[in-house]
Amino acid sequence: MSDQAQELRKLIRLRHEKDTPSPGSALTGQPERKTRIITVTSGKGGVGKSNFTLNFALCLQARGYKTLIFDADIGFANIDVLMGISSKANLLHLIKGEKTIGELVQTGPKGLQFIAGGSGLYDLVRLSDSEADSFTDQIQELGGMADFILFDTGAGLSKETQRFIAAAQETLVVTTPEPTSITDAYALIKMVRSEDPDVTFKLVVNRAAHSREAKETAEKIAMVARRFLSVELQTLGFVEDDQHVSRAVKEQTPFTIAYPNSPAAKSMNVLVDQFLGQQPKADSTGGFKGFLSRLIGR
Ligand SMILES: Nc1ncnc2c1ncn2[C@@H]1O[C@H](COP(=O)(O)OP(=O)(O)OP(=O)(O)O)[C@@H](O)[C@H]1O
Ligand SMILES: [Mg+2]
Repeated sequence: MSDQAQELRKLIRLRHEKDTPSPGSALTGQPERKTRIITVTSGKGGVGKSNFTLNFALCLQARGYKTLIFDADIGFANIDVLMGISSKANLLHLIKGEKTIGELVQTGPKGLQFIAGGSGLYDLVRLSDSEADSFTDQIQELGGMADFILFDTGAGLSKETQRFIAAAQETLVVTTPEPTSITDAYALIKMVRSEDPDVTFKLVVNRAAHSREAKETAEKIAMVARRFLSVELQTLGFVEDDQHVSRAVKEQTPFTIAYPNSPAAKSMNVLVDQFLGQQPKADSTGGFKGFLSRLIGR
C-alpha cells in the first residue's frame, strides 16, 4: 500500500461515523442513515445502465428511500441529460477544490439527488496528497446523506470502474438477451473476479421480451459462471424491452415518470420491490467508511 493510501485510510478511520441506523430513515426524519452503496455496470455498452440506474433510483425514492446517483461514467456522463437538467458543476470542480460536494449535489425529479460526472474521475488516480485529502474529506460528506448511493459506470472494465465495483457493497451487472451482451457480461464478471474474488454480482436483464426470455438469459450467464468460475450469480430481475424507454429518453424524462403504466415501468417496479425484499450481503463491508477506504486506498 502506498504512503498516500495509508494516509487516506488513517484519515478515514479518524472521521466520525455517520452511517449508522436503518434504511428507510427518510421516512422517520432521523438525521443518520446507513448508506447502501451499489455499483451498476455492464460488459457491453448501450445496454441500458444509465436508464436503469435513473429509474431504479426514482423507484427507491418514491418508496421513501433517499437516493443519490453518482454519475461515474468517465467522459460519457449523461444522467443529467436523461433528466433534462444541464449541470454546470461536476466532479472535476470537486477534485480541483473549486466546489464543495454540497455544491455538486443537485436535485432531480421526486427529490432524487445526483452528482453529475465529467472527465474529473480520470484524475482520481493521479491526485496529489493534498488533493486526495481534500477529495476524501469532501466525498465523506455523502455518507449518511442517503439511504442508497448508486454509481452509474461506463461500459467495460476501466481501472476506475474496477475501483467502484470493489468499493461498493453490491454490483449490478446489466445485460440484454443479445448474445454479444451476454458474453461481454460474462467476460466482465470473469475479469473482476480474477482481481477481486469477494465481489458479488446480481444480474439485471434489460430489454427482455418477456420474463421467460429474461430467465433464460440469466440462466445462460449463471451456468457458465458456475461451471468455469465457480461463482453463484443471483438474478435481481428484468426490465421489458419497451419503446416507451426510447421515447422517454427523447423527451428527457425518466420512463417511470413519463410512462408509469408502460411495461418497462411496471417491470422496474417489480424489480425494485424484489430488491428491497433482499438483504444486502453484509455490513462486513463497512458501510460508507469502508467504501471510501476501498475506493481511494487501493
Ligand atoms: N428497456 C428498454 N427498452 C427499450 N429500449 C431501451 C431499454 N433500455 C434502454 N433502451 C435503449 O437503449 C439506449 C441506451 O440506454 P442507456 O444510455 O441507458 O445505456 P447505457 O448502458 O448507459 O449506455 P453506455 O454504455 O453508453 O453508458 C436508450 O437510449 C434506449 O433507447
Ligand atoms: Mg450510460
